[in-house]
Amino acid sequence: MKTIAVIPGDGIGVDVTRECMRVLHRVNDTFSAGLEFTEFDWSADKYLQEGVTLPAGALDMLRNDFAAILFGAIGDPRVPDNRHAADILLGMRFGLDLYANVRPVVLMHEKLCPLKNAAVENVNFTVIRENTEGAYVNAGGVFKKGTADEIATQEEIHTRKGVERVIAYAYEYAQAKGRGQVCMSDKSNVMRFAGDLWQRTFKDVGARYPGIRSSHLYVDALTLLMVLKPADFEVIVTNNMFGDIVTDLAAALQGGLGMAASGNINPGGVSLFEPVHGSAPPLAGRNVANPMGSILTAAMMLEHLGLAEPARTIESAVAKCVAADQTTSDIGGKLGTREVTDAILSYL
Ligand code: NAD
Ligand code: IPM
Ligand code: MN
Repeated sequence: MKTIAVIPGDGIGVDVTRECMRVLHRVNDTFSAGLEFTEFDWSADKYLQEGVTLPAGALDMLRNDFAAILFGAIGDPRVPDNRHAADILLGMRFGLDLYANVRPVVLMHEKLCPLKNAAVENVNFTVIRENTEGAYVNAGGVFKKGTADEIATQEEIHTRKGVERVIAYAYEYAQAKGRGQVCMSDKSNVMRFAGDLWQRTFKDVGARYPGIRSSHLYVDALTLLMVLKPADFEVIVTNNMFGDIVTDLAAALQGGLGMAASGNINPGGVSLFEPVHGSAPPLAGRNVANPMGSILTAAMMLEHLGLAEPARTIESAVAKCVAADQTTSDIGGKLGTREVTDAILSYL
């Protein structure tokens, strides 16, 4: 038995995770995959009612009792500072040391791509985003708050260990997937100290993988070329903040945030899988959110758990729905969240 912790979260996280679970239950039965699911209600609702974000002992429980975590999305306008989101999602990323955020960029059908003359073979790369440091550590402070002299600092933390392990992960990923190139992206022309650390570490780690071509782009140029020449990319490795930003752009190449899947990986421990999108409050509870990002995320999770066949089966069912325009309106269809899932189930 493998037990999966399911955390729907807020907004459309709840809508898409509900549908994703229908798909997971189906493949679990069909393939006798031996999965069990335990749901947790960590969310804005719980925070507002009970004052609890990530409950005490949660990280140990996840580490010890679960094979993987399936997450929806988090963020709610009733919690303006998103305190609960920081505690729950970033709390798990940091606390479980989920250092490699793996975001595959796969175009399922050319009609989903906003680029002219797009072909599926030209949009097929993966962004490996550092996930435990950089601008996300919330270091800094404020002085003379609320006065005309207010000063705010927001610091980034980059460690040799943190940079080295995520770069090594990117090369290992490239090798495992038969990809020939790793592109590291930073802003080392301006952010000299962190940039120098990333540059030297990239050179050192790259030297251990002579069969893989190493390349570098400043992140501003990366965004340009991801649009103009997406076929140039195979594996991109970058820091936490740049990775966040470029993967929304990359999601657009796939048809939008509704199509983008991700895994927050700790190679030696429990990992967390979530769609790239957020809680999209205006769409919540309206049966309009695209469930495909979440469902493709479940396929990533299954593959991670060694269940490649059910994973491929899910991906091909989603591809059939896309081809037949059995989709939500964000990618041009006329169906609701539930009806898209019904269609996916019909192909399983
Ligand atoms: P968002 O991803 O929720 O939405 C961005 C845009 O994409 C919106 O136009 C939305 O309608 C659309 N969209 C996203 N997912 C979609 C789907 N499945 N189907 C159809 N359309 C979809 O980002 P945002 O609006 O910047 O943030 C909303 C809240 O979500 C914020 O609180 C933010 O902090 C949070 N957030 C959470 C996560 C996460 O949990 N991993 C990720 C991003 C944002
Ligand atoms: C993402 C999200 C998160 C991030 C937010 C919700 C903290 O945008 O997973 O891409 O910035 O990492
Ligand atoms: Mn993001």
